[in-house]
Amino acid sequence: MSPSRTAPTLELEALVDDPKTKVIVCCGSGGVGKTTTAAALALRAAERGRNTVVLTIDPARRLAEALGLSNLSNEPKRVENITSDVSASGRNGSAVENGELHAMMLDMRRTFDEMVYTHSTPDRAEKILANPFYQTISSSFSGTQEYMAMEKLGQLVATGNWDLIVVDTPPSRSALDFLDAPQRMSSFLDGRMIRLLSAPARAGGRGLRRIVGAGFGLFAKAVGTILGGQMLADASAFVQAFDTMFGGFRERAASTYELLRSPGTAFVVVAAPEPDALREAAYFVDRLASEKMPLAGLVLNRTHPVLADIPAARARDLADQVDKTGSAKLASAVLRLHADRVDRSDRERRLLTRFTNAHPSVAVVPVPAVAGDITDLDGLREIGDRLTASR
Ligand SMILES: Nc1ncnc2c1ncn2[C@@H]1O[C@H](COP(=O)(O)OP(=O)(O)O)[C@@H](O)[C@H]1O
Ligand SMILES: [Mg+2]
Repeated sequence: MSPSRTAPTLELEALVDDPKTKVIVCCGSGGVGKTTTAAALALRAAERGRNTVVLTIDPARRLAEALGLSNLSNEPKRVENITSDVSASGRNGSAVENGELHAMMLDMRRTFDEMVYTHSTPDRAEKILANPFYQTISSSFSGTQEYMAMEKLGQLVATGNWDLIVVDTPPSRSALDFLDAPQRMSSFLDGRMIRLLSAPARAGGRGLRRIVGAGFGLFAKAVGTILGGQMLADASAFVQAFDTMFGGFRERAASTYELLRSPGTAFVVVAAPEPDALREAAYFVDRLASEKMPLAGLVLNRTHPVLADIPAARARDLADQVDKTGSAKLASAVLRLHADRVDRSDRERRLLTRFTNAHPSVAVVPVPAVAGDITDLDGLREIGDRLTASR
């Protein structure tokens, strides 16, 4: 067996307070607490005096309401009832100014539409928006949501309004989709595929088959796979209208990618203490490293630490003894419950140890589960406290 190591501690308080931290990206597999973590970190930063915006992708309904996001809102909206953290102090020791928290929920389709308007004339934009091919890729092309999240991030950075932007990421089955998005989208719009699609029109409508020749079967299959349909004619018209926008897309995708790699960005990988989530987290950590993306560390969310220092076997022994007396049923039930919690906690610790043995330099912060869902700002503050607890 490999020796077990202890992971360095992920210091999130220092991270959100650091004026050099401009962008925090929360990523991980679905259902692990990405949206909650993003919102809690953003609230924390705002209450410690930083002007913060959180870009959420799929907030749970009640959390969205707590953030004032009952309607899909593609522009940041100010969150009410932000208080200032009296323990945070400014450079000269005085209490910090109140920061503001703004929140928004990504509207993928509208972000795409806006982008079309920004990069073309109103006439052209109408044509593009009405095109069935556009309607398909803007709402269902795999990677579009990831790409639009990056586009929105780019827009938020460009305003220069924010001390800190916290980004939630889409619930992709594969966490990689998110990193792949700018690259994939730009190579999709810019690459061979699009040149092939636009070939018939350029050739004066002499037909796609002739131009592409023997490669056609393969090509049609690729298009079919990506679009789930045969919309070559629409696609071709779409590409004609879109032609002038390609440069803009490519540049923006590239600059967002560079932004993600810059030192002002911090990736926070969120995982639950479960084998699948940690496996995805490990994969993500590796991928971030290979892309040279700045990883802050791992949030191990919803852990179950034990309250009393009684080993599981000892608790079960005691419970057996109590049971023999035929009385104090409650006491033995509590002891057995404790034993189960110790087992779970041990399991979680073993999983983390395995992760840390494989990734010894990745800083970790465990976040104990709170009772019930997180549905209001106080709930987020509680998560924020756990995320930043010094231990
Ligand atoms: N530390 C925690 N303790 C208790 N419940 C949590 C915790 N973190 C997240 N949750 C709950 O888990 C659910 C999923 O969280 P969410 O942030 O929406 O996950 P994701 O964005 O990764 O899909 C939500 O109902 C949320 O309230
Ligand atoms: Mg989410």
